[in-house]
Amino acid sequence: MKASFMELIRQRRSVRAFEARPVEKKTQELIVEAALRSPSSRSLNPWQFVVVQDEKKREALAGVKPHGGGFLAKAPLAIAIVADPERCDVWVEDTAIAATYIQLAAESLGLKSCWCQIRLREDGKGGMAADRVREILSIPDDLEVASIIGIGYPAEEKPGHLQSELDYGKVHDEGF
Ligand SMILES: Cc1cc2nc3c(=O)[nH]c(=O)nc-3n(C[C@H](O)[C@H](O)[C@H](O)COP(=O)(O)O)c2cc1C
Repeated sequence: MKASFMELIRQRRSVRAFEARPVEKKTQELIVEAALRSPSSRSLNPWQFVVVQDEKKREALAGVKPHGGGFLAKAPLAIAIVADPERCDVWVEDTAIAATYIQLAAESLGLKSCWCQIRLREDGKGGMAADRVREILSIPDDLEVASIIGIGYPAEEKPGHLQSELDYGKVHDEGF
């Protein structure tokens, strides 16, 4: 089903409940292509992506922070976004853009997704969630873990936000 970009973002919502069916290889490849096509500052591409389908690993990832990560156990596909901070000083922005590309590519392919924040989040046991993710996915110590995007076919329906809910008061014409 083809949707224009505006239709796509009007329907987009974060979904955290998924069917068990896996995301097809071809579809995964398109999502990865979108990630690799995301723009980055000075085209330094400081990001790398860890594609995870293994159930045990996803269950472990779901437990790396006390709140807001549980859905990863049920998302058939999880993509961890990591970056080399030495490669680019604005790697946070670069990884956020890549995450958005991944989410919008998934949406355009009939899938739903949700962002799981890892950077700056604690693991609830006195450590950092990023270190737990590093262990689970064998990520080198010099790479920062930004986020994990959980993706799959939705098992819940959520309508897009209504036009009337948009806060146009946040938009300023020619200055505040
Ligand atoms: C930077 C960022 C971090 C987020 N972190 C989490 C998270 O850790 N866990 C989670 O369930 N959702 C997370 N979300 C999803 C937001 O909760 C969600 O986008 C917000 O509630 C708005 O809902 P909507 O996406 O359906 O419009 C995150 C979203 C962003 C942009």
